Amino acid sequence: MKAARIHAYGDADQIRIEDAALPAIGPDDVLIRTVAASVNPVDWKIRRGYLAKMLPYDLPLTLGWDVSGIVEQVGADVTGFQPGDAVYSRPDIRRNGTYAEFVAVRAREVALKPATISHVEAASLPLVSITAWEALITAAGMQPGQRVLIHAGAGGVGSIAIQLAKARGAHVTATASAAKAALVRALGADEVIDYRDPAAFAAARDLDIVFDTIGGDTQDASWAMLKPGGFLVSITTPPSPERAEAEGKRAGFVFIDPNAAILRDLAALVDAGQIRPLIGGEYRLDDAAKAHEASETGRTTGKIVLYTGQP
Ligand SMILES: NC(=O)c1ccc[n+]([C@@H]2O[C@H](COP(=O)([O-])OP(=O)(O)OC[C@H]3O[C@@H](n4cnc5c(N)ncnc54)[C@H](OP(=O)(O)O)[C@@H]3O)[C@@H](O)[C@H]2O)c1
Repeated sequence: MKAARIHAYGDADQIRIEDAALPAIGPDDVLIRTVAASVNPVDWKIRRGYLAKMLPYDLPLTLGWDVSGIVEQVGADVTGFQPGDAVYSRPDIRRNGTYAEFVAVRAREVALKPATISHVEAASLPLVSITAWEALITAAGMQPGQRVLIHAGAGGVGSIAIQLAKARGAHVTATASAAKAALVRALGADEVIDYRDPAAFAAARDLDIVFDTIGGDTQDASWAMLKPGGFLVSITTPPSPERAEAEGKRAGFVFIDPNAAILRDLAALVDAGQIRPLIGGEYRLDDAAKAHEASETGRTTGKIVLYTGQP
C-alpha cells in the first residue's frame, strides 16, 4: 500500500511516499481502508523528533493520527464493527499512523463516522475534538452560562472548541488575528479579541475558563483574565501549580489519548448540526510534505486534510 513515512527525524523532506506492507491486524484491531487523514501540529513535532524521548518509535514510521474510512477487515475478537462500516478515529499515537491507504486501529478507538458529513470532513475532527472536549468539559468542567475564552479560535482545536462551548451553552470569547475575526464569529464566538492588540487583550477579565492553545506569553497573560477560582486549561505547557495557588485560581494540562466515547457523542452533535468541520487546506497524500510545511507556519485556518484513498 502507499504510505507517507519517515526513516529519520528532520525537515519535511524526510517524508517519503513509498510502498509499505499492509498492516497486520491483531485480534482487537480493525483494518481501515482510509479515505482521508488530517494533519495536526503533533505530526510535524513527531517528524522533527521533538517527542522522541516520550514516544520512542521504531523507524520507518507512518505519520498521521486522524482518519476516516471504511472497515475492510475485523480482528477475531472484534464484535462492534463489520466490513463496510464507515468509521472515524484518532488512533493510538504509539502505532503507525494514518497517512496511508490502510491503517490498523484498535476497535475500541473507533466510532461510526457522522452520517451527514463526508469522509474528508470527518477526518478533520477526531484529534482536535477529543482535545477540546477533554480540556473544556473533562478538565475544566465547563457549565452552561459560564464565560469561556478560547485562544486561537481560528485554529484546528479552537474552531471546534468554540462550537463545542456554544453547544454546551457557554458565553464564548475567542482570540484571532483581525483578518479572521468574522470567521470566528461565524463559528459562534460572542466576542472576538485581536490577539495583536494589547489593549483588547488586557481588557479580557472575569472569565470562568481560559483555554490556552498557545503557551508562553499567551499563557502568562491568561491568569489575569480569570476570575478568582477560574480555570486555566492548557494543551501546550503545563501551567504552574504554584502560580495557580498564588493567584487563587485553578489550572490543568491535557495530553489526549484515543477516546471513542467522545467521538460517538461528537457524531451526534455533528449530525444535529451543532458542530461543523472547518477545512482550510486539502492536499494529496503525495503532497504530505507540503501539508506539513503549511501546518508549521502556525497561520493555517481550521484543519488541513490529506486525501489518502478513494472516496
Ligand atoms: N496536548 C494535546 O493533547 C494537544 C492536542 C491538540 C493540539 N495540541 C497543541 O495545541 C496547539 C494548537 O493546535 P492547533 O491544531 O489548534 O494548531 P493550528 O491549527 O496550527 O493553529 C493555527 C492557528 O493559530 C492561530 N494563532 C497563532 N498564534 C496565535 C496567537 N498568539 N494567539 C491567537 N491565535 C494564534 C493562527 O491564527 P492567525 O493566522 O490569525 O495568527 C492560526 O489560525 C499546537 O501546539 C498543538 O500541538 C496539543
